[in-house]
Amino acid sequence: MPKIKKIAVFTSGGDSPGMNACIRSVVRAGVSFNVDVYGIYRGFQGMIEGEIKLLESRDVSNIIQKGGTILKSARSKDFMEKEGRAKAAAQLRKNEIDAVIAIGGDGTFTGAKIFQQEHDIPFIGIPGTIDNDLYGTDRTIGYDTALNTVVDAVDKIRDTADSHDRLFFVEVMGKDAGFIALRSGIACGAEAILIPENKTDVNELLQILKDGKKRNKNSSIVIVAEGDDTGGAIEIAKQVKARNNDYDTRVTILGHIQRGGSPSCSDRVLASRLGVAAVQALAEGKNKVMVGEVNGQMTFTDFEKSIKHHQKIEKGLEELARVLAQ
Ligand code: F6P
Repeated sequence: MPKIKKIAVFTSGGDSPGMNACIRSVVRAGVSFNVDVYGIYRGFQGMIEGEIKLLESRDVSNIIQKGGTILKSARSKDFMEKEGRAKAAAQLRKNEIDAVIAIGGDGTFTGAKIFQQEHDIPFIGIPGTIDNDLYGTDRTIGYDTALNTVVDAVDKIRDTADSHDRLFFVEVMGKDAGFIALRSGIACGAEAILIPENKTDVNELLQILKDGKKRNKNSSIVIVAEGDDTGGAIEIAKQVKARNNDYDTRVTILGHIQRGGSPSCSDRVLASRLGVAAVQALAEGKNKVMVGEVNGQMTFTDFEKSIKHHQKIEKGLEELARVLAQ
């Protein structure tokens, strides 16, 4: 097994709070294990264009607390083509890169998997996305911070909903998963939580709202995951109003504030652990796996599995939400 002397690290897909903490951890682990770490800027596109630069310990000072990613991220159409991937491989070889660490989500790992079918350069993935939709880790980097951002925003909406006796539909991110919606909905005492994992029944939702009114509930908040089968908050609000015009209704789409902000302690520690584990794994010859944390332990899951086996929504939480939304 050839000794790993040079590693490249990049961030890809939607950025998430904690990515900088992870980059810092990879670089500092490299220093400890006597491995040079190069940063690739702007994801796969930067790999193709050779935006590759040595990162030293000082380059990652004072970033652990910063949201976003100093290595930027970018969607890359060129990387979808075999020719683009060949250019990327040539750039890695030109820089004598022995192995690559990809911090990103399922799209990133899908790209890495295809790349590896054509080029024999080891890749390790680190789950960096607010969506928490990757199999093989209890949490993805950024998920905890995004949850707290949503809870803070919805608490503010609750103040004005209560002042005006209004019904609010609040849309949260998560792509085609409902993790952000479910946990933030419970934490905010949402009257209903609509997630892609369950088909939404508008009549059932109307009944929940009606029962609440009967119990003198003068305002309600419905959390809607952007991937919900109703098509999102604007759509479901229209459907409710069409069937029952009793509510003074408003819609708030939280959008990209969920992607920013200083990472929580939990995300910083997770990012730090996963960064070091990824460098150690490469040094031990691991390849084509995503490093994760399951029940507090570092785990390694094949890319194939981490992408395909969608993380399962916690069933007990849905029941908890229903019981508490009285
Ligand atoms: O995957 C992270 C994510 O924030 C999703 O929750 C969201 O649907 C998507 O990225 C938005 O992508 P973009 O930033 O390209 O609009």
